[in-house]
Amino acid sequence: MKTCVLIVAAGRGERAGAGLPKQYRQLAGTPVLRRSVQAFIAHPAIAAVQVVIAAGDQERYDRAVGDLDLPPPIIGGAERQVSVRLGLEGLETQAPDCVLIHDAARPVVPPALIDRVVAALEEAPAALPVLPVVDTVRRGEAGLSLGTVPRVNLYRAQTPQGMRFSEILAAHRAAEEQDITVTDDAALMEWAGHPVRLVDGAEETMKITTTEDFRRAEADLRQALEIRVGTGFDVHRFGPGDGVTLGGVSIPHDQALTGHSDADVALHALTDAVLGAIGDGDIGSHFPPTDPQWRGAASDQFLSHAVDRVTDLGGEIRHLDLTLICERPKVGPVRDAIRERIAEICALPVARVSVKATTTERLGFTGRREGIAAQAAATVALPPPEDP
Ligand code: CTP
Ligand code: MG
Repeated sequence: MKTCVLIVAAGRGERAGAGLPKQYRQLAGTPVLRRSVQAFIAHPAIAAVQVVIAAGDQERYDRAVGDLDLPPPIIGGAERQVSVRLGLEGLETQAPDCVLIHDAARPVVPPALIDRVVAALEEAPAALPVLPVVDTVRRGEAGLSLGTVPRVNLYRAQTPQGMRFSEILAAHRAAEEQDITVTDDAALMEWAGHPVRLVDGAEETMKITTTEDFRRAEADLRQALEIRVGTGFDVHRFGPGDGVTLGGVSIPHDQALTGHSDADVALHALTDAVLGAIGDGDIGSHFPPTDPQWRGAASDQFLSHAVDRVTDLGGEIRHLDLTLICERPKVGPVRDAIRERIAEICALPVARVSVKATTTERLGFTGRREGIAAQAAATVALPPPEDP
């Protein structure tokens, strides 16, 4: 069964307030539309994802999802129903057996919800995810209650709504001819006489409608992040020279640190801590010391690369903690400068970076002033891995 997805994103998001339409706004660091699209691209039952956008939104679309494997977007209409119809017309050449029609404004779509909708389509021409109504429902007018509406048999409808493709396309064409307007696609299937199977929806697949919804959705997503801690350790030996670079800050000294790059032990330990938190190898596997391009390189690029790897996974760094271990140079006078420089490299508030220093009471190689050691811990929040 070939199943395509149609994501409608041609609305103006007026209830979410002025400015960028809601589907293009960032939600916990990722555009709403990108989250919706990725949920389906990642699902094995989905053959293709087609997005419908408003005329004039091409640039916003490119910025949000331009790098993903998607066909060019289709231009929608002034009403959602029109956007869906135009999208279905555009999908016709692909001859899918089924289509899942989804609001771009519902950025969180658990794979299990897609599974339920797809499974129901094996037996029914249409599948509608719903949630029970738990509050007492009342009718009212002009501030006065007109009585309770029994909530048995009442449900809240969500998307993705699944349909057999030829039936929903025919229903949309007929509705257009007869000037019929409904609020969603399941309603059109019913109007056309097809039974609609109810499946369990998902609370997290809420539609973002207002600014307050952004806040709630963001809080939910952050709550779902899992915390990882990574550690890093590095040592560089002293050699002849007149200064060292520690934490990206140049410090005059009667020796220098030797190493392939700028030998910044602090940034190397931090880079390994960040990579460790995401299980992504170590500094040597990303920047092999055998590669001449890293000779004398400034180590801030290693750390910012590691930070980018976290961001690419949809994660964020919560805290960095560094300990420098040396007798000399004295770290105290440059501690704040190092802290600020690390925060700058990682695009973090200074409050999320800690820099400490200690001697080893003249014991061992650091005590003999043969070199400097650094150890670091990174606390990272990551989206949990998809269930296998
Ligand atoms: N939609 C669409 N074409 C339209 C109107 C809506 O593709 N002419 C899409 C929206 O982009 C959204 C989904 O349909 O993903 C659900 O609509 P809604 O939540 O009402 O979004 P907007 O219409 O953008 O918001 P508002 O009604 O507040 O302006
Ligand atoms: Mg609308």
